[in-house]
Amino acid sequence: MIARPLCVGGADPLGYSALMSVAALVLAAGRGERLAADLPKAFVPLAGKPLLVHSILAMAQVPEVRWIVPVLGENDRAHYAALAGEISGISGLLEPITGGVERQDSMRAGLAALPDEVKWVAVHDAARPLVLPSDVSKAIAMAQEKGAACLAAPVRDTVKRVVDGKVVETPARAELYAAQTPQIFRKSWLVEAVDKAAAANLLGTDDAQLIEELGKDVWIVEGSPDNIKITLPDDLLFGEAILRRRKEGGERG
Ligand code: CTP
Ligand code: MG
Repeated sequence: MIARPLCVGGADPLGYSALMSVAALVLAAGRGERLAADLPKAFVPLAGKPLLVHSILAMAQVPEVRWIVPVLGENDRAHYAALAGEISGISGLLEPITGGVERQDSMRAGLAALPDEVKWVAVHDAARPLVLPSDVSKAIAMAQEKGAACLAAPVRDTVKRVVDGKVVETPARAELYAAQTPQIFRKSWLVEAVDKAAAANLLGTDDAQLIEELGKDVWIVEGSPDNIKITLPDDLLFGEAILRRRKEGGERG
């Protein structure tokens, strides 16, 4: 059983998580073409545990998160069933939903399937298995104050905007952040943003962009640089090193 301070085994005597009404969508329907593993990326192990399991367990440790909804590729049900031993018994883990061709389609499918009581949605990539539950809580608090929040890390490199091979701009690095997940939104805003994007044929590179298109402000919460996205094979080595360091330091692993 996963430790969820106020919501162990479905018991929630203080009604705390009900008040928060936060659902986490864990997007796992991608193919992982750049990782080029034998399995769809979400099922590839990191230190012996599939990325999707790491991500679900991280969300299960966030006290404000009441529901967790995995979004899977259409042919991945058997892979998911095989994870039962690692994730069964997690309170609030709902039946998986089938995603779509693009990440935004998967997000939209998960969003449409959420229970009516959900008021806040944390959209998380299964490919970010190292997110810290404490960072997720901070981002949820910011979203509940402002309406929309995004974990992000300051960029380390100087970033150039390039057109046809020529640098056209060097934006001030101090103003640049790399967006991570989860990104957390008032559900009604996200529903409106997704509908508007569909009508305009807009495919955002993250969810916050759709909210920005609505004219709403998205607030940054600085997350740990450890919250990497597993994209290329070497990211697995890096991720395992981070887990090893956490274990040696007595942190969550
Ligand atoms: N994702 C999804 N549905 C899609 C595409 C992506 O749910 N149609 C999810 C992925 O499973 C991943 C997250 O969105 O957790 C971020 O996407 P990315 O890192 O690009 O993963 P993949 O699309 O699987 O990888 P690739 O682009 O290399 O194929
Ligand atoms: Mg992709």
